[in-house]
Amino acid sequence: MNDLVVVGAGPIGLAIAWRCAARGMAVEVVDDGQRGAWHASAGMLGPVAEAYFGEAALTAFLVESVRRWPAFAAELGAEEIGYRAEGTLVVALTGDDLAEAERLRTYQAGLGLPITSLRPAELRDREPLLSPRVRGGAYAPGDHQVNPRRLIPALRRAATAAGVTIVREPRPARLTVVAAGTGSAALTGLPVRPVKGQILRLRAPGHQPPGFSHVIRGYADGRHIYLVPRLDGEVVVGATVEERADAHVTAGGVVELLRAAADLVPEINEYELAEAIAGHRPGTPDNAPLIGRLSEGVIVATGHYRHGIVLTPLTADLVADLVEMGVPDPMLGPFAPGRFA
Ligand code: GLY
Repeated sequence: MNDLVVVGAGPIGLAIAWRCAARGMAVEVVDDGQRGAWHASAGMLGPVAEAYFGEAALTAFLVESVRRWPAFAAELGAEEIGYRAEGTLVVALTGDDLAEAERLRTYQAGLGLPITSLRPAELRDREPLLSPRVRGGAYAPGDHQVNPRRLIPALRRAATAAGVTIVREPRPARLTVVAAGTGSAALTGLPVRPVKGQILRLRAPGHQPPGFSHVIRGYADGRHIYLVPRLDGEVVVGATVEERADAHVTAGGVVELLRAAADLVPEINEYELAEAIAGHRPGTPDNAPLIGRLSEGVIVATGHYRHGIVLTPLTADLVADLVEMGVPDPMLGPFAPGRFA
């Protein structure tokens, strides 16, 4: 008999299994063979640029998880998983975009988060490829990135090396952790819904590193996008946010993302369009995750919405503590799975 079965082989499920096995438990992970939200995800670790009005508890949770990211990345091999710490530039195209970006930056700075305004010349000093049209922006040095398509194989290796078995059909276990992303709703009845995101992957000519190194959070004529440059020449451009369960890539979605990206960084017009896909974020009614005990023998760690990659280290540590000690860490208070009952 297992001590623990983890349902879900995405970053959250694998990291929980890894942490629990490292504490001496017998652990199986159930992998249904489907690629989850991680496959579409850009891998921004951005608690500052993602901090939004009215989500202070979630922001504090994101900040704590990002604090744990450097050590977590080092355990897996930081270079291997594409961990980079250049920080994020917020870039606004028009005067209206700048007013919107500044309103959010003022809120973020008011929470004590490290983000400073930059004038257009200061933005272009950092990234000369930015369009001469940009009206201003900001810099968040604490926001980093990782490549989720490298993270998952690294987590599988680490978990397996710690003794985890990855299976289709699990043996009985004392305890089950449900970490199945959008699939968690059918397994638990919890209010987790798919929020579609269309996302593009471009390639710089010759597969050279792109001509910019910061993650760029762009506001362009009212459209919100991000560009995530990778050393292997890839640039991820995301993402739409749609209350839909289908996985179609639409002409409108691609046009919206590319137009905004090229308005901010005109050079990307020369890049190859390598991939256009849609994924589904596991959304919840308050945009915050569901982490904790659901019933006797069942713990959930799901509903991470836009923040699954960022929240992987902290979720794994706190769920491993809960499994081992039986009581939830106070940090989990705002994220109790029963809060919508
Ligand atoms: N975290 C970015 C997104 O969900 O699009």
